[in-house]
Amino acid sequence: MDNKKVLTTSLAKPIDNDQASLTTGKKVGYTLMGDVDLFQKLAHFNRERIPERVVHAKGSGAFGYFEVTNDLSKYTMAKFLKGVGKKTPVLARFSTVGGEKGSADTARDPRGFALKFYTEDGNYDLVGNNTPVFFIRDAIKFPDFIHTQKRDPQNNLKDPNMFWDFLSLTPESLLQVMRLFSNLGTPKGFRHMDGFGSHTFMWYNEKKDYHWIKYHFLTDQGIENFTQDEAILMAGKNPDYATQDLFNAIEKGNYPSWSCYIQIMTPKQASNYRFNPFDVTKTWDETDFPLIPLGKLVLNRNPDNFFAEIEQAAFAPSHFVPGIGPSPDKLLQGRLIAYTDAHNHRLGPNSFQIPVNTPNYSNPYTNQRDGMMTVNGNFGSHPNYYPTTLADVAVTPSVSLPPMPVDGIIAKHTIESDEQDYILPGEFFNTMDHHEKAHTIYNLTQSLMLANPNLQYRQTALFYKVDPILGNSIAEVLGLDKMKVHELANLTQEERVKATLKPYTFYK
Ligand code: HEM
Repeated sequence: MDNKKVLTTSLAKPIDNDQASLTTGKKVGYTLMGDVDLFQKLAHFNRERIPERVVHAKGSGAFGYFEVTNDLSKYTMAKFLKGVGKKTPVLARFSTVGGEKGSADTARDPRGFALKFYTEDGNYDLVGNNTPVFFIRDAIKFPDFIHTQKRDPQNNLKDPNMFWDFLSLTPESLLQVMRLFSNLGTPKGFRHMDGFGSHTFMWYNEKKDYHWIKYHFLTDQGIENFTQDEAILMAGKNPDYATQDLFNAIEKGNYPSWSCYIQIMTPKQASNYRFNPFDVTKTWDETDFPLIPLGKLVLNRNPDNFFAEIEQAAFAPSHFVPGIGPSPDKLLQGRLIAYTDAHNHRLGPNSFQIPVNTPNYSNPYTNQRDGMMTVNGNFGSHPNYYPTTLADVAVTPSVSLPPMPVDGIIAKHTIESDEQDYILPGEFFNTMDHHEKAHTIYNLTQSLMLANPNLQYRQTALFYKVDPILGNSIAEVLGLDKMKVHELANLTQEERVKATLKPYTFYK
C-alpha cells in the first residue's frame, strides 16, 4: 500500500512494536524503565483532557459561509457586510448550556448558537442562543444562576429546588422561562431552530453614525421540536441526537442554512421605546422594528477533527470588527470580559494561535508576544512595542467606535423587576395555540412538581401574573389552592417572597 503510514512516537521516531511493552519475561514480568515509548504514551494519555467549557460544554459544529443578500453597509463599515454576494467563511458551534460534555443533546435547555466569521478585518464572533432573550439582565447574577442548573454541592444531583428558588426570586426571567418550557426548549436537533444575537449591538459607519441592532437567524429547515416525552425518550435512545443529525445532514450534502435578518433602532427611537432596548430580557416588537433581510448562513463542511476544530474553538462576544460594537446592555458588558478569560483558562494565553481561532483571512500583527505554546513564529525579529521607528507600523484611527455620550451616577444600580416584566411573557403565551399552551403547562408542571410547595406557590403566582389562565392551570395540575395563588399574585415581589419562606405551614 503506497499510502501506508509508519506509526511513530509524537517526535516521529518509528515504533517497532505497539502491542507489547518492554518486560523481563514472556508470561509475567517487570516493565523496564527503558520503555520510553510506553511512558510517553501513558503520560500523554493522562493529559488528553482539557477543562470543558464551564457552560455550553456539550456541543457540535460545522464550517460554511455567510453570504450578504442585502447591502446594509450604509449602517456599518464592517467589510464582510459590504456588497450583495459577498461571502465570508464561518464556523458555527451549537450547544446545550447546563449539562456536562457527555450530557444528552435533547435536554430542556437553551441552545447555544455561536458563529465565528473569518473576515478580512479579523474574526467576528456572534455568540448567541436559540432565544432572543435571557433569564437575567446583569452579569453579576450569571454564576449564581448557572449554579442553580448545575449540581447540588452536597449530593452532586441536579436540584429543582435550586432552579425554581432562583427563578421565582427573579421575575425578569419569565419570558425566557416561558420559552424554555414551551416545546422550543427541546428543539429537534440544531438544524431546526432559530438563532439570535439576543443582545442589542451597535453598528456604525465610516461617518460614525451609529444604530442599535439585533440579529435574527431564521432556520430554512423550519422549526421542529420534540415534545417533553419524546425528548426524554431520545435522551435514552441517542443522547447525541443533535450532534449526529447535524453531522449526517452535512455528510449527505443536505446543507443546513439560516436566513439572517436584523432589526434596526435609531438612538432617538432607543431613548423613548416602551421597553429598555438594552434589557436582554425584552424583545423589540417586530411591528415596531421590522426584520430587514441581511444574508444567508450555510453550513457545508464537517470538521475533520472534533477536538482540534470544535472543542478548541474559542468564541467571545468581545471579538468585534470595525463597524460593530457593544451596546450598554449590562449583561453583554459582563460577557465582554468573561470569555477571553475562560479561553485563557481552558486553552491558554495563545488560544488565538490554534488554527481554528486564527484570523487567517486578515493580517494579524500584534505586540502581544510570548506566553505558553507560542507556535506562530512570534513575529520573528520585529520590535514588540508601539510606537516604534524601528518598523513600519501604524494604527488605524478611522476604525474607532463613535464617541458616545454618557451621563449617570456610578453605583451598583439594580434594575428592579416591575410590571413590565410580565407583559412580554403574557404576549408570548397568547401567541400559542391550544396545543402549545397545553404542552407548556405540562412541561412546566412536570418540573415544578419536583420542587418544594412554597416554591411551587411562589412561581405559580408569577405565572398567574403573566396570565391568569396559565397560573390557574398550573395551580390545578399541581393541586395548589388557587385562592392562595391569587393572594400571592397580588402581593409585591418582596411580600411574596416573605410569605413563601420556610416553614411552609401556610400551604399545608
Ligand atoms: C459559553 C459566560 C451569557 C451564549 C460561555 C462560556 C462562558 C460564558 C465563560 C464558556 C466559554 C469558553 O470556555 O469558551 C457567560 C456569562 C454570561 C453569559 C458570564 C452573562 C453575563 C450568555 C448569553 C448567551 C450566551 C446571554 C447568548 C445570548 C454562550 C454560548 C457559549 C457560551 C453560545 C458557547 C460558545 C461556544 O460554542 O464555544 N459563556 N455567558 N452566554 N455562552 Fe455564555
